[in-house]
Amino acid sequence: MFKVQTKLPSTALIAGAIIAIGSASLWFTAAAGEAEEVAALSSVGSKELPNNFPFLNPSGTAATFSTAGFVDLGNPFHVPQGTNGRSCESCHLVQAGWSIRPIDVELKFLLTNGADPIFHKLDANNPNPDVSTRAARYASFSMLRKGLFRRGGPLPSNAEFEIIAVDDPLGAGGSLTNFQAFRRPLGTANFHIARNIGWHDQNTNGSGNIHAGLVGQAAGNITGSQEGPPAAPATLESIAVYEEGLRFAQQTVFGVGKLTSCGAQGGPENLSLQPAIDARFNLFDAWIDLVPGSCSTKVADRKRAQIARGQEIFNAQNAGGGSCRGCHNAANNGSHVNGRLFDVGASRAQFREPGMPLYTLRHKTTQEIRQTTDPGRAIRSGLWSDIDRFKTPSLRGVAARAPYFHNGIAKSLRDVVIHYEVALGFRFTEQERQDLVAFMEAL
Ligand code: HEC
Ligand code: HEC
Repeated sequence: MFKVQTKLPSTALIAGAIIAIGSASLWFTAAAGEAEEVAALSSVGSKELPNNFPFLNPSGTAATFSTAGFVDLGNPFHVPQGTNGRSCESCHLVQAGWSIRPIDVELKFLLTNGADPIFHKLDANNPNPDVSTRAARYASFSMLRKGLFRRGGPLPSNAEFEIIAVDDPLGAGGSLTNFQAFRRPLGTANFHIARNIGWHDQNTNGSGNIHAGLVGQAAGNITGSQEGPPAAPATLESIAVYEEGLRFAQQTVFGVGKLTSCGAQGGPENLSLQPAIDARFNLFDAWIDLVPGSCSTKVADRKRAQIARGQEIFNAQNAGGGSCRGCHNAANNGSHVNGRLFDVGASRAQFREPGMPLYTLRHKTTQEIRQTTDPGRAIRSGLWSDIDRFKTPSLRGVAARAPYFHNGIAKSLRDVVIHYEVALGFRFTEQERQDLVAFMEAL
């Protein structure tokens, strides 16, 4: 068994992880001949993370570009604001696409024996967890260790439907009057092309006002998740402005190198200049039908051409009807340009995983019955037609933050594609699946 007894403060742990992962990726890029990035290493240890600093992920490296000139790890976002030692970065990690992966949570548990502030009863499997022994703590946070956080809210009093049955295997707190579900943290970047804050638009609530949504979200988190007193308006403003400056995207892909090579427009710096418009993805237009060997090696150019094929599959109408871009229509970002929420079937009972509550809902007038593991927007609006609708997230840097969908049911980007085939009737050949995945890995 693992026997580390030392309790590391979470900031040290995260800094350690950043240095470990960051310097590994520096080694990779330096080895690839990108010597200028080695200079960035001299800044590690200060509170300024250089723009475009690479972090490894399974597809290559991804990076953040901040319009402030550097990523300010001294911003109140990264500093505990409450009484339980948590900060925003407890759950939103720069190296995980500003979300958190199961491995990050597992690592925190192993290094602190479950004492890291993230292991708070607020995010345990249920509100009254057994935390008396290490083994009990480990079991009580089984959902958190999958990167899933307990979130929910009361059934609105004016809802068009009622909850007629609940199956809540972990006692998460679901009832005939209350929804509780397990959700992935959304990445806190790319808000220059966003219209919603929160998986069911709970912080913007149809207004499209991102700044106000971010301020409201931060205020609620500090008094809620961080158990603090109400934050000073200047603190909330500073956090919101910081988040609004962050652009996160894949930067290099294994076998290809920089996503700005040979005329392509990938990477976080280009993203920072991207306006919020409804248009096709065109990042990799320069790689369409690239002749192998015409830009760099034949192998790399074939991979470039594959990424460009994937882009065109994403842009195109699919044989099964619909298109990826139909919903992910904000050019080169993938959110919905008007902030529309959609039901892609991720909450259906057929995709339910162990631990997830299941709710049976009945329409008050039509008596229609529907089951869901998380009703999304309907928690806020109470509308039958909003059941299972969620925000259309930015797809940039998506390789850094598996698993996917609001509830993490897709463990890989390939699983995402297969989900769309099973749930929405998309039809792809095996080659098309691989091309689409290669494209998403380059976002
Ligand atoms: C305990 C973990 C945790 C902490 C701490 C935390 N978050 Fe989050 N954050 C989440 C989860 C989970 C979600 C998704 C919740 C949802 O929408 O239902 C989320 C969503 C968000 C979103 C929505 C992003 C989007 O694209 O819509 C923003 C913004 C955000 N968090 C900012 C912050 C800030 C700022 C702080 C600190 C003041 C913070 N978070 C602290 C877990 C956390
Ligand atoms: C009907 C609208 C719609 C269509 C069509 C659609 N998406 Fe999505 N996509 C969404 C929404 C909404 C979400 C979030 C859903 C959720 O979590 O429940 C999402 C989530 C995703 C995610 C996960 C993002 C994350 O951070 O977890 C990926 C990747 C993705 N879509 C890729 C695609 C691809 C590839 C296609 C085409 C095969 C596609 N989408 C088609 C609306 C759509």
